[in-house]
Amino acid sequence: MAQVSIIGGGNVGANTAFFIAEKAVTDVLLVDIQAGLSRGKMLDIMEAAPIRRYRNLLSGSDSLGDIKGSEFVVVAAGAIRSPGMRREDLFTVNAALIRSLAPEIARLAPDSIVVIATEPVDSLTALFTRVSGMPRSRVLGLGGILDSTRLRALISRELNVSMEIVTAMVIGRHSDDMVCLPRYCSIAGVPLTQLLPANRITALVEETRTAGDLVVELAKRSSAYYAPSAAIAELADSVHMNLNRVFSVSLLLEGEYGLTDAALSLPAVIGSRGASRVLTPELTPQELAVLQESARKVAAAVKGDPAAGSVRTSGSRGGTK
Ligand code: 2OP
Repeated sequence: MAQVSIIGGGNVGANTAFFIAEKAVTDVLLVDIQAGLSRGKMLDIMEAAPIRRYRNLLSGSDSLGDIKGSEFVVVAAGAIRSPGMRREDLFTVNAALIRSLAPEIARLAPDSIVVIATEPVDSLTALFTRVSGMPRSRVLGLGGILDSTRLRALISRELNVSMEIVTAMVIGRHSDDMVCLPRYCSIAGVPLTQLLPANRITALVEETRTAGDLVVELAKRSSAYYAPSAAIAELADSVHMNLNRVFSVSLLLEGEYGLTDAALSLPAVIGSRGASRVLTPELTPQELAVLQESARKVAAAVKGDPAAGSVRTSGSRGGTK
């Protein structure tokens, strides 16, 4: 059975293992350098198997070498925010981790799809792509899919409709400059802009923008992990079963909207080979300006990193590698 390997036995890593175990479609390995941590957590999940009917192999390890040959690798290790911190404040400490992990993951699981959950996700996705040499289609950041999921939940609550028929689109940087696109959000195909007044849409957009910060403020010593973990499990499903679902994921831009050097979230078709196609919905000049500024910030962070070197650029206007 194919294996999903999760690096980092913290809240995101362990809950991602749990959600994927619940889907029972792949073996799951949780890796953490803290001896015993991931083995203990996976033993705990596995002991629920008689009730939850898990048949997949659930294991823990403190050795990165055990991810060898994995189909799907999640990077969920590193420092997390404390109240008052911005995601970007984590770049220096977590970039060092990405610089050390990227070559190892590329060596041990060269054909895998990698999901970056460590913050700040966009600059670390770009850095991982650059340092690993893996194609951008197979290095995906957990950005817009989390923001879009949050907006879907808020729209569903506001309109009192089933979440299954709510779609939402959030692109750009997984930060306070994320670009929510209400006109591309729908309820059973009806555009959100036809069902809610502008002031309510603005309120839901702002609640989405600050959702991650609110969890950190409320939880004090933890950042969000249930919604991030559930989003990663959805990506794992779409890859493992080649579902070709469309999710907003962060990936190194190769000319989309004329942008390169940065990773930002855009809607992408996710199947067994990662992002097979990147969609570029039409944007207003204002939305494009925000995206350009976000790309500048992400590229600056990555270019400022000694491992990034000259971040790979390409003249191609979009499409996928
Ligand atoms: C969030 O938005 C952890 O950045 C993540 O909650």
